[in-house]
Amino acid sequence: MWAADAPYLAACRGEPRPTPPVWFMRQAGRSLPEYRATKGTLNILDALRDPALVAELTLQPVRRLGVDAAILYSDIVAPVAAIGFGVEIRAGVGPVVEQPFRDERDLGRLRGLVPEEDCPWQAEAVRLLVAELDVPLIGFAGAPFTVASYLVEGGPSREQTRTRALMRARPDLWAALLDRLAALALASLRSQVEAGAAAVQLFDSWAGSLSAATYRRHVLPASRKVLEGLADLGVPRTHFGVGTGELLGAMADAGADVVGVDWRVPLDEAVERAPGKVLQGNLDPAVLLAGADVVEAEVKAVLEAGRAAPAHVFNLGHGVLPEVDPDVLARVVELVRAG
Ligand code: CP3
Repeated sequence: MWAADAPYLAACRGEPRPTPPVWFMRQAGRSLPEYRATKGTLNILDALRDPALVAELTLQPVRRLGVDAAILYSDIVAPVAAIGFGVEIRAGVGPVVEQPFRDERDLGRLRGLVPEEDCPWQAEAVRLLVAELDVPLIGFAGAPFTVASYLVEGGPSREQTRTRALMRARPDLWAALLDRLAALALASLRSQVEAGAAAVQLFDSWAGSLSAATYRRHVLPASRKVLEGLADLGVPRTHFGVGTGELLGAMADAGADVVGVDWRVPLDEAVERAPGKVLQGNLDPAVLLAGADVVEAEVKAVLEAGRAAPAHVFNLGHGVLPEVDPDVLARVVELVRAG
């Protein structure tokens, strides 16, 4: 179990620290040799049913890197998979939906999530981790828009065009879809926190494909339902997306305590767009492939810009790339601690 005043939790609460806490999005998995050795060829959706395995995969980066937080090994499509929507995760591709979401009839495929029946293994994994970890565990879910994009497109897509068309062509149907997905995300996050997760992150990874006006009209209300629906639990909530420079103000309005920033907007500018918010980010993930001197200079620049925020949680601007050398991640942790 971790301390209530653990650096990551203190920073999320807005208490500035001499050096920021650090963790990495997608720190478990693909870039770690021990991950590949432990998981083998098992599909992630099958791996999730094994709480001891999930706990081990969640712990691996914490042991190796000494980061200030763990993030539960799972995926943003786990809740839709758990209610039987028909999603699989293909190696080298990502989530694939055999029968994409098209019309009213598909709403019937999105029943509510009952975590203790549909995915009891998840709360069990969280309980194992609470007992093992000495840094806080972050639970997470996909935001309604980003999960909807997989259901509507049928898989990963570059610009989510079908999704952006559907919200305009059928605003009523779209709102009903996002409502169901908000309920799923909320049920999943509440059960992660009730099992012991110390904080949550809502990933709206692909929201950057929307204009601010479209985001406010068609997406923000559903994300707000998720974030505000967690308020009574009292855990820090982080809200993150990629390419969201134009949306930071709107995302800050959705109710999170911490706003995740990608690498395109320096943190000392992001703070103007999301006033009063704790900021998370935002080293360009590609910098980790650019050599030691570049890593050192860019980490320093992020630390410096982060001082403009009420408090800063050091992270990358998006997930760790698969080809990154874990020793470079460990070096980043050292550099952040050195200040
Ligand atoms: O990267 C992000 O933007 C974070 C949000 C997000 C996750 N999954 C969280 C996650 C998104 C957008 C996804 C969808 C997804 N799922 C993709 C991307 C496809 C695309 O559209 O480009 C992929 C490849 C998957 C499948 C998946 N998820 C695999 C194979 C794994 C296992 C480990 C690995 O990294 O290969 C995951 C794990 C996963 N997805 C984690 C999270 C937070 C847990 C690992 C960690 O972050 O530490």
